[in-house]
Amino acid sequence: MKHLLTLMDCSPEEILDILNLADQLKYEQKNGIEHKYLAGKTLGMIFTKSSTRTRVSFETGMYQLGGQALFLSSHDIQLGRGEPIRDTARVLSRYLDGIMIRTYKQSDVEELASYGSIPIINGLTDYCHPCQVLADLMTIREYKGSFKGLKFCFIGDGNNMANSLMVGMIKMGVKCALACPKGYLPDEALMQWGKESGLLTVTQDIQEAARDADVLYTDVWASMGQEQEAETRKKVFREYQINARVMQAAKPDAIVLHCLPAHRGEEITEDVLEAHAKEIFDEAENRLHAQKAVLVRLLGGPDVEGKR
Ligand code: CP
Ligand code: NVA
Repeated sequence: MKHLLTLMDCSPEEILDILNLADQLKYEQKNGIEHKYLAGKTLGMIFTKSSTRTRVSFETGMYQLGGQALFLSSHDIQLGRGEPIRDTARVLSRYLDGIMIRTYKQSDVEELASYGSIPIINGLTDYCHPCQVLADLMTIREYKGSFKGLKFCFIGDGNNMANSLMVGMIKMGVKCALACPKGYLPDEALMQWGKESGLLTVTQDIQEAARDADVLYTDVWASMGQEQEAETRKKVFREYQINARVMQAAKPDAIVLHCLPAHRGEEITEDVLEAHAKEIFDEAENRLHAQKAVLVRLLGGPDVEGKR
């Protein structure tokens, strides 16, 4: 693996390798075992959208691995004043060991990777959010023991989260049911790929999608950049909520995950969120561990295993 641009580029073996390493790094951190595999390395973090979890977990993760992270808001670097991505990529490649970028267009992330000469990590685009889904898979495996025989259900907008969740679940052999309203479906090509696996169903029947699910997942109705559509979306998505009725359809021991930030009373009720706060905040914590594994694999070089 050279970059992490989308989960579609990762083989199931590469995903499992990241998850296993993430478990190990979590164990080491909890037990005070130092793991400074990235000593002397610098990660640049370009943000053109807001972030709490992604920014703080990447920055802390680099520090814990012995390296450092630079927060590069697009408001402050020349990119925000029109310097082309392809020039930014070639300049930053001369200083940094890797770049994490959160932005709108997936094509900008791809351009950064093709013009730069260092690993690029996608920290969310309008198209996908691979780092979040690695943490989600880690959390599901922690709670359920393995991926075998699981049913995953996503209720809501066919957005960046739906795209990456569908790919991540299917690559791990998990049955994936998506309930999305008409006109708000996930990416067409990804759905086609998912359907060919025989593991994907896409429906408008929320109860059907949630039936016997082991994991329920939702995300905001209006993503970053869609603020002006928020009122229209509130009407379209009114029924697409994880609430007590949806929980009734799922397995009694179903877990609930949310990438956060959450809008209580919209895509999830306050009661369900608070009843499942343990797993939702474990999931948020796992961003740190999963991303550290990604950083070690992409920035660590071939001798990392020798240092273990
Ligand atoms: N889930 C997630 O990516 O959170 P932030 O937007 O806070 O980074
Ligand atoms: N779909 C949301 C995810 C936030 C982590 C957004 O893009 O705003």
